Amino acid sequence: MSRFPDVSTAGAAVPASIFARLREHLATFPGDVIPLQIGDTHLAPPARLDEVVWAELAAGDLYAYGAAGGWGPLVDAIAAKAWTQNKVGVTASGIQVTVGATHALSCAVQALCDPGDELVLLTPHWPLIRGIALGFGVTPVEVPVSMQMSAAELVALIEPAITSKTAAIYFASPNNPDGSMLSVPQLAAIAQLAARHNLWILADEVYEDYGYDATHTSIASLPGAAECTVTVFSFAKSYAQAGLRVGYALGPDGVIATMRKLVNHSVYNVPVAMQRAALGALRSGGPFLVRARESYLVARDRARSRLVAPAETPAGAAYLWVDFRRWTGDDCMPILEKCAAAGVLLAPGSAFGAMCGGFARLCFTGVTADRLDLGVDRINAVLGML
Ligand SMILES: Cc1ncc(COP(=O)(O)O)c(C=O)c1O
Repeated sequence: MSRFPDVSTAGAAVPASIFARLREHLATFPGDVIPLQIGDTHLAPPARLDEVVWAELAAGDLYAYGAAGGWGPLVDAIAAKAWTQNKVGVTASGIQVTVGATHALSCAVQALCDPGDELVLLTPHWPLIRGIALGFGVTPVEVPVSMQMSAAELVALIEPAITSKTAAIYFASPNNPDGSMLSVPQLAAIAQLAARHNLWILADEVYEDYGYDATHTSIASLPGAAECTVTVFSFAKSYAQAGLRVGYALGPDGVIATMRKLVNHSVYNVPVAMQRAALGALRSGGPFLVRARESYLVARDRARSRLVAPAETPAGAAYLWVDFRRWTGDDCMPILEKCAAAGVLLAPGSAFGAMCGGFARLCFTGVTADRLDLGVDRINAVLGML
């Protein structure tokens, strides 16, 4: 069908950057802007590209096309980590290295869902999963949930959203943006629900290493769940290597084989140089994880106690999910615009779910303690003027 000059319907449906509107207001601020909107870290990674011993790599490994599934030594190390840390037994055929967890999720959605299918998103949800679904013609179906719900309440909310078109259920635990972590009974209930309805589970566990008040459990470690679950992880989140863009997925061999074809047809292979630095982190990053967790926990509590606006203390991840509804009802954009004009950026809640416009996400790991204090003080000052 000819459509020039239009682009594809699915491509057009993918949302643009959530920060565009705030940037205009930022332009009026003359000083040091505090970027609390982006999910990043100010910590240096445990393994850096400039420390990699390149001579350890055969020239062919570095300069030739690589294996579609991932660089062998990294894949082997991931298999060992999946077993010791996640209690998930996989071999190389159940592992796919990707360009960050974003690429893993994109390939997983494409592998598991056809255009016209529905993908249930436990909400609030990571914004890009919605755009990923839309880009493949898949309909995202948001199910608002809260961390206080029992397993039965969770199921009672999700089950009515399942239709004959539902292909999969997506959730993140620990969650971005509210830091909630699903308990073993909640995970087991989701696994049973998926089994009852023949659904895939898409488990986003990129914050697996950052649980503060609870221990992370991989849903694929629960009885019967691994057969229907694709789980994604990220070196960006675990090891402060966001710029290297390395992530990976674990799943049943058949799904991973399909994802491998999709990786091969999208990026061919993940750059081996980047996988080398990721392997360095996996090998030597244990002490970093301990230090980062301690540092993020201090930052979480510091931001929580300093901020005047309400936010539940998140059990994990890197964010406060700030509730501005008492000031501006269901649309806090006016507050976020004032914050931008005052030199502090927050991520608008509307990007995390249709019902989330009264909230904003504050990342407490992206800047040092003094800049975090300054950013929070600027937010408090804006609220003080309302
Ligand atoms: C919940 C969640 N999933 C996936 C990703 C993507 O991770 P990556 O940077 O490895 O692509 C992010 C990044 O912020 C995230 O917060």
